[in-house]
Formats: sequence, structure tokens, C-alpha cells
Amino acid sequence: MKHQVISIANQKGGVGKTTTCINLAGALSEKGKSILLVDMDYQGNLTLGVGMNPGDFEKGTGDVILYPEISFREVIHQSSIPNADIAPANMMLSKIDINIDRREERHKILHDKLYEVKDNYDYVFIDCPPAFNLLTVNALSTSDGILIPIQCYPYSLAGLNMLLEIIDDIRYAYNFDLEITGILPTVYETNTRIAAAVLQELHDRYGGKVFDTIIKKSVKVAEGPIHQKPMVQYANRHPVTMAYRELALEFLRRENT
Ligand SMILES: Nc1ncnc2c1ncn2[C@@H]1O[C@H](COP(=O)(O)OP(=O)(O)OP(=O)(O)O)[C@@H](O)[C@H]1O
Ligand SMILES: [Mg+2]
Repeated sequence: MKHQVISIANQKGGVGKTTTCINLAGALSEKGKSILLVDMDYQGNLTLGVGMNPGDFEKGTGDVILYPEISFREVIHQSSIPNADIAPANMMLSKIDINIDRREERHKILHDKLYEVKDNYDYVFIDCPPAFNLLTVNALSTSDGILIPIQCYPYSLAGLNMLLEIIDDIRYAYNFDLEITGILPTVYETNTRIAAAVLQELHDRYGGKVFDTIIKKSVKVAEGPIHQKPMVQYANRHPVTMAYRELALEFLRRENT
């Protein structure tokens, strides 16, 4: 296995990070893989999307980062996805940037805490917030790979360039082993020429780093938070569900080569 711990990240908001986290986990779980989902976004969308209410937990990932005495084990719960556990987000996460700002080694708190649990799972997916903050730095510092969902608009390419530069910085400063798991076109609009042109540009610039799988735009995806489970469980034969299954296969293929 090449990448066990994977950050799903893009500083741009609303590009399908959380949706990809949930639905790739759902599709991998059908293949018998076990997954730990880690919600690093204080919005708590991942937590909500797999059947939990972020307000219901006394402790979450924010506490793990903030308090040295709290271990990862204490915040892990079973999610609505078979074979997948969740470390839920809570509001503590919004305090992190201020509170750990002066701590030495503040970039590797997640790394040190995750260490005791990660080998209980085939994969660990870390859902990052739409920002380059200390939480994202912590996530990337402990990841083997980064999966980058991207929408095919012209300005997305500039954002991607910046993200790739930051990944280089992280590699250089904290985590030499960080690799690109893949760039995933999401919320793809089939009937626009601009989306097709941007997709072509992505392939031209980044070649094999771009997944062949494309996640098309569909209103069905927005139902996820109502069902609080992945699409494989509420829209079994939907084209987007099938695309996430295809992504799981492509992901596993890449992992094994
Ligand atoms: N393929 C898709 N088709 C249509 N809508 C989608 C698709 N993927 C995601 N969405 C919708 O777009 C919105 C943003 O998706 P999501 O929350 O996954 O993005 P995000 O990158 O995690 O956002 P944030 O940066 O706020 O964390 C959600 O309402 C989601 O339902
Ligand atoms: Mg999100």
C-alpha cells in the first residue's frame, strides 16, 4: 500500500472535499476496506454526513489537538458506513489557530496522536477545512498522500498551482514523504465548453496525477446531509454513485502499482 493516511484538501471552499471523503469511503467499504474518517473542519460537515451530530460529543478532534492528555482513541466512534469509524469535529477546532500558535512542534500534533490508531485501519481520510491554517498543516504533515478535488473553472487552475506550491513547502519543511494521491475533477458540468477546456488543461499540465474518473454534477449529491450516509447507501445505481465506485477502483489500482 502506498498511501495509508490521505488528506482530502483544497483551500477553495465547496469543491467536494467532504462529499468525496464520504463517498469514496462508502465505495471502499463495499470492497471490504476499513477506514478512519477524521474531521478537521469545524463546520463538521463530514461528521454530520456520516450520521453524527457534532454537538453530541463531549470531545472531538479539536480536543485531541489542543490537550496533550486526550488520546485519539477517546474520540473515535462508529459511523453510518460499515467498516468506517469517525473522529468527529467540534467547535474546539475553531480555537486551534490561536491556542497552539506558540507551541513547539505545533505542526505535528496530529501526527503524534494519530500514530496509536492508524494501523487499525486500511486507510485514514482527513477532511481538511477550506483554508491553509494550522489544521491543514497538521493534516498534510502526517499524510502519505493528498487527494485534491477540483472544480473545472478557469480560476481553479491558479488555486491548484498555489496549492501545489504549498505542498512543496510542506514537503520541504515537515514531511518529505507527502505525495499527490490524485487530482479529482468534481461537480463537473458536462454541457459546458469551459469545463471541457479546463479538464483538458488539467491533463496537459498534470498528466497522470489527474484521476481518469470524473464526478459529474448532480442535485442528488446534495441530499447526502439529509440521509447522513454515502450515496452507495441511498442512491445505489445513481451515475454519481457509480462514479465514486469507479474512483474507488482507480484509487485501489493506483495504490497497488
Ligand atoms: N458532484 C456534485 N454535484 C452536485 N453537487 C455537489 C457535488 N459534489 C458536492 N456537491 C455539493 O456542493 C456543496 C459543497 O460540497 P462539499 O461540502 O463536499 O465541498 P467541500 O469542499 O467539502 O466544502 P467546504 O470547503 O465548505 O468544506 C455541497 O452542498 C454538496 O452537496
Ligand atoms: Mg468540507
